[in-house]
Amino acid sequence: MKKSIVDAFNAQVEKEGYSSNLYLSMATWAEVEGLEGVSQWLYQQADEEKMHMLKFIAFINERGGKAVIPAFEQPPAEWKSVKIMFNEVLAHEKYITESIHKLIPIIQKENDYAALNWIQWFVDEQMEEESNVQAIIDKLNLLGDKNLYMFDRDIIKMRTSETTAE
Ligand code: FEO
Repeated sequence: MKKSIVDAFNAQVEKEGYSSNLYLSMATWAEVEGLEGVSQWLYQQADEEKMHMLKFIAFINERGGKAVIPAFEQPPAEWKSVKIMFNEVLAHEKYITESIHKLIPIIQKENDYAALNWIQWFVDEQMEEESNVQAIIDKLNLLGDKNLYMFDRDIIKMRTSETTAE
């Protein structure tokens, strides 16, 4: 695989790994706040992000590059409310979507059709993730902060099977 793609994919390894750590940090915060359901959702989300990172690592190495494991910036550890936290999740996923989309012209420039085909999974995955988080925010808006007990009880049911697969 061309160096420009390997470098860009390695940068994405860092972003997926940071996403995993960010959601882990949110999960421990929610757990300590007594929000069992929210923390379970976030722990699973952290696992999923780690799986995304591993997918990039495997693809880079399979295609003759070398994946590099970077240092990760420390994520925040406190949030003022669950709503603020989920808005941050959505903003972060939008940032990751943009970052995945920016990989496409780099791949196209090298006419690497295998990589182009492979990255499509992430394009679809990001669409799904954004819509899942938006649904959570909608539910949170509907129930309001006063009904956090119900929200916490129901959130895990909002995880679709695709998001726990692979
Ligand atoms: Fe792997 Fe949610 O971005």
